[in-house]
Amino acid sequence: MENLATLYPDHILELNHRVAEIVAREKLSGLVIHSGQPHRQFLDDMDYPFKVNPHFKAWLPVIDNPHCWLLVNGKDKPQLIFYRPVDFWHKVADLPDAFWTNEIEVKLLTKADKIADFLPNDIGNWAYIGEHLEVAEVLGFTSRNPDAVMSYLHYHRATKTQYELACMRKANEIAVKGHEAAKSAFYGGGSEFQIQQAYLNAVDQSENEMPYGNIVALNQNASILHYTALEHQVPAQRLSFLIDAGANFHGYAADITRTYAFEKNRFGELIVAMEQLQLAIIDMMRPGVKYVDLHIDTHHKLAQILLDFNLATGDKQGLVEQGITSVFFPHGLGHMLGLQVHDMGGFLHDERGTHIAAPEAHPFLRCTRTLAANQVLTIEPGLYIIDTLLDALKQDARRQQINWDTVAMLRPFGGIRIEDNVIVHHDHTENMTRNLGLNG
Ligand code: GLY
Ligand code: MN
Ligand code: MN
Repeated sequence: MENLATLYPDHILELNHRVAEIVAREKLSGLVIHSGQPHRQFLDDMDYPFKVNPHFKAWLPVIDNPHCWLLVNGKDKPQLIFYRPVDFWHKVADLPDAFWTNEIEVKLLTKADKIADFLPNDIGNWAYIGEHLEVAEVLGFTSRNPDAVMSYLHYHRATKTQYELACMRKANEIAVKGHEAAKSAFYGGGSEFQIQQAYLNAVDQSENEMPYGNIVALNQNASILHYTALEHQVPAQRLSFLIDAGANFHGYAADITRTYAFEKNRFGELIVAMEQLQLAIIDMMRPGVKYVDLHIDTHHKLAQILLDFNLATGDKQGLVEQGITSVFFPHGLGHMLGLQVHDMGGFLHDERGTHIAAPEAHPFLRCTRTLAANQVLTIEPGLYIIDTLLDALKQDARRQQINWDTVAMLRPFGGIRIEDNVIVHHDHTENMTRNLGLNG
């Protein structure tokens, strides 16, 4: 893989450049970024799995250590206050010594509540960036997650540095190994739970390390968009398999979906048609293209598939305008990807935070931005048999345009989604997922 040590200094240079610009504009001395604190479970002495503040892991790949702080002002070496308590109950984090430590000044914090000793005297001029506003208040921060700073950072986060792109290629590489193992487990007769275990084994990550809860769905479960239950029982009949599963590398996410038919049949042909649609949309990605337009184009291509597979009748335009394609494809085409699976900033039109909402007819679209070089997005069209949505359609004249026999034939297969992770470059697109050889 690309050498992270070589790429990292420029990453820090870019982040520092962003901080310098926004703190000058907001008349701040700098930003204090909190990794976070553990969350205690109700009436218990256990914590929920720790999830680090994405603004913190943007700077360095420390994703499992609460009570850490970063002081950045855009010109000095970033300062990391690294939590390292004396603790014989838990594993204490190793002293940082990695490709990134040369670029960062590290100080050790042995007691979480002693952080005030490390903070600047003019704390009122620094902005706190983090989740724990009450902690920030006690520490004397008057500026906490200020909108202008957050919008600026979220807007620019869409443009990945070369270091970030390398991390994301690696996250894809790991996830693809999982997808290959899961595919074998499906054809080998595994239950949803067994397929999930095969996936986790292959990526060598625990469920808590996954960037989101894997969707491992056999048969009709594939129609449930966020299906995260895992059946232990092997189904009597094996028809289809939808897996939406990612991986994490240094805090960056992969988010990949594949759908398989167990046997050669009409559902398998529908998968092929959806894959062609997906690849055609990816082909249209380039700087200057509006993501909303790609989403709308997907609906028009989907209308053609509904006609080709005798799921619906009528004209393409009408199928889109009457919301019939939305019944089969109710979610968005995809989203920005990075430190978070649904990376912040998908609706930001500029660095000042101008928000462009999704079109009214497509409320679940998560990105309305215009594509630009070095952005990373998912492209994930779908086609599902979702009875609650089809029922609404039955209430009006649109029911006459649906071929209910085809719907009934496809219902046991659940649905299809195909999702790749794509980098937009100046002169081409880079499909990280397909480049690793993961085809349908
Ligand atoms: N896995 C969540 C998504 O595809 O957006
Ligand atoms: Mn996904
Ligand atoms: Mn996704």
